[in-house]
Amino acid sequence: MKHLIVYAHPNPKSFNHAIMETLQQAYQAKGHSLTIRDLYAEGFSPVLTPSDFAAMGEGRLPQDILREQEYIKNADFITFVYPIWWAGLPAILKGYIDRVFLKGFAYDYGADGVVGLLKGKKAAIINTTGSPEPVYDHSGMIKSMNQTGEQGIFGFCGMEVVAHLYFGGVPTSTPEQRQDMLQRIRGLAEKF
Ligand SMILES: Cc1cc2nc3c(=O)[nH]c(=O)nc-3n(C[C@H](O)[C@H](O)[C@H](O)COP(=O)(O)O)c2cc1C
Repeated sequence: MKHLIVYAHPNPKSFNHAIMETLQQAYQAKGHSLTIRDLYAEGFSPVLTPSDFAAMGEGRLPQDILREQEYIKNADFITFVYPIWWAGLPAILKGYIDRVFLKGFAYDYGADGVVGLLKGKKAAIINTTGSPEPVYDHSGMIKSMNQTGEQGIFGFCGMEVVAHLYFGGVPTSTPEQRQDMLQRIRGLAEKF
C-alpha cells in the first residue's frame, strides 16, 4: 500500500505534529511505502494566482502543482492531518486543494455531471479542535465539516473517505489524554 500524508501545521511542537509522527511510525512499522508532504515545511504556496490561470490557459501547469499532483497520483491512501481553524481547513491546505485538485486532474464534468477522477483512492481525515467534541457535535458543526470535507472536497473528487476523526479540546488536554488520543491513532493506522 502506498501511503501519502498531507500535513498542515506550522508548529513542529504541536499535537498535530505528534499525530503525524505517530502515523508515520505506524505506517512504516507495517512496511507500507510512505511519503509525507509537510506543507509549511515545504513552503507550499497556497494562492491560486493570475499566472496560474494564465499557465493553465496555455495548457501548462506550474512545477509545484505538477509535483504535488505526482504525489497524489502515486498514492493509494492519503491521510490528511490538520487542525480545524475557523471551522475549516488552515488556509495553506485550502490553497493546496485550490491549486492541486484541478479540473482535469481531480474532477471533470461529464454528460451526467461531475466525475471524480481520484476514484480508487482512499482517504482518512484527522482533525483537532479547541472545542470539546461533544460541544461541536451538539452544535451541528461536526456534521457541517463532515459534509464540506468528506462530500464537498474529497468525495467530490471520487475518493473514498474511510475515516474522519476529530480530537476535541486539545489545548486543554492532559498528557494522559493526549497519549490516549495517539493510541487511537495507532489503532486506526493498524487498519490501513
Ligand atoms: C487560527 C486559528 C483558528 C482556530 N479556529 C478554531 C475553530 O474554529 N474551532 C475550534 O474548535 N478550534 C479552533 N482553533 C483551535 C485549534 O483547532 C486547536 O488549538 C488545535 O486544533 C490544537 O491542536 P495543535 O496543538 O496541534 O495546534 C483555532 C486555532 C487557531 C490558531
